[in-house]
Amino acid sequence: MSKSSRRWVQEHERDPYVRQARQSQYRSRAVYKLMEIDRQDHLFRRGQTVIDLGAAPGSWSQFASERVGAQGKVIAVDILTMEPVPDVLFIMGDFTEQQTVDDCLRCLSGSRVDLVISDMAPNISGIRHTDQARSMYLAELVFEFSTAVLKPGGNLLVKVFQGADVEPYRRRLVDVFQRVKHRKPKASRDSSREFYMLAQGYNV
Ligand SMILES: C[S@@+](CC[C@H](N)C(=O)[O-])C[C@H]1O[C@@H](n2cnc3c(N)ncnc32)[C@H](O)[C@@H]1O
Repeated sequence: MSKSSRRWVQEHERDPYVRQARQSQYRSRAVYKLMEIDRQDHLFRRGQTVIDLGAAPGSWSQFASERVGAQGKVIAVDILTMEPVPDVLFIMGDFTEQQTVDDCLRCLSGSRVDLVISDMAPNISGIRHTDQARSMYLAELVFEFSTAVLKPGGNLLVKVFQGADVEPYRRRLVDVFQRVKHRKPKASRDSSREFYMLAQGYNV
């Protein structure tokens, strides 16, 4: 194992969110990011329809499913396989491919959704501009998709990486949503350039 991999493993083992996730039923520490944003911004309500993009291994889907309850619906998408989450419909596919988007639309059969959440992240190359550009490309696709499926008043939570493209992206959100906020939950590592944009109140 390389020195940097060993350091990553040591930090991972010391991470309180990793320990907490292991002790709970959640599949990933990522759930604590969504929980914090939900506590602050009240993302979920019973009976909602939610689309979870970049869902594997599944902790956001687990939490979303609990929060929307039996009357709600969660559709999860990932390029990787995911162990089934009870009451969550999983679509395996690359979200950059039209086929995957069409599969999502087919599942909705014309109905619109209350909330789109995207924790999608490209494979990190370590080259800052490349990673930022790839992440922004995914965020753009999420934005386009959201404008096609959100109900009036619906919300979008999307992961982005800090960089020059973020401000133009924020302006595009501002054009079609009533409010746009930045969120950097405590569980998101300080060393990571990721943060989340929460766009609320979609104006169709
Ligand atoms: C940070 S993980 C998501 C963790 C998840 N929110 C959870 O709570 O378990 C990012 C996910 O995005 C997925 N992803 C990246 N690019 C994708 C693409 N083009 N299409 C679908 N999923 C993608 C990855 O496979 C990975 O599972």
